[in-house]
Amino acid sequence: MKKILIINGPNLNLLGNREIGVYGKESLSDIENECLEKCKLLEINCEFVQNNNEGEIINLIQSVEKNFDGLIINPAAYTHTSVAILDALRSVTKPKIEIHLSNIYTREEYRKKSITSEAVNGLICGFGAYSYILAIEAIKNMIYN
Ligand code: DQA
Repeated sequence: MKKILIINGPNLNLLGNREIGVYGKESLSDIENECLEKCKLLEINCEFVQNNNEGEIINLIQSVEKNFDGLIINPAAYTHTSVAILDALRSVTKPKIEIHLSNIYTREEYRKKSITSEAVNGLICGFGAYSYILAIEAIKNMIYN
């Protein structure tokens, strides 16, 4: 069975308590359950992880080439700052999608630039937790086409 990795960056462990007006009431474990359910329906294996450390996120990205068929990543605030995560993403040849809960283009100026999206196949943002579900559908399509 094909296998994907979903990486969640810093502070996303606080979802459900953090800026509910922006990110919604669902916790990260609610979103994880929805993702696992969706992957089950689509018959793909899914590993769902969260990490607050840039270096650890880079290690996870580097594991994709060998161990996974695709990557979905919400780099959170590192989206706007991390050339190191951009470089790690560039080294991945498997399908890769960046996602955000919020529409980063309607928010503060410093969120309107995504450095990391320069290295992914596509970007989905602004649909809340449903951004994850849309990305799972899109990555399945990319893996099989
Ligand atoms: C986010 C958007 C980022 O700008 C922010 O730093 C986050 C969450 C989102 O999913 O909307 O932590 O990636």
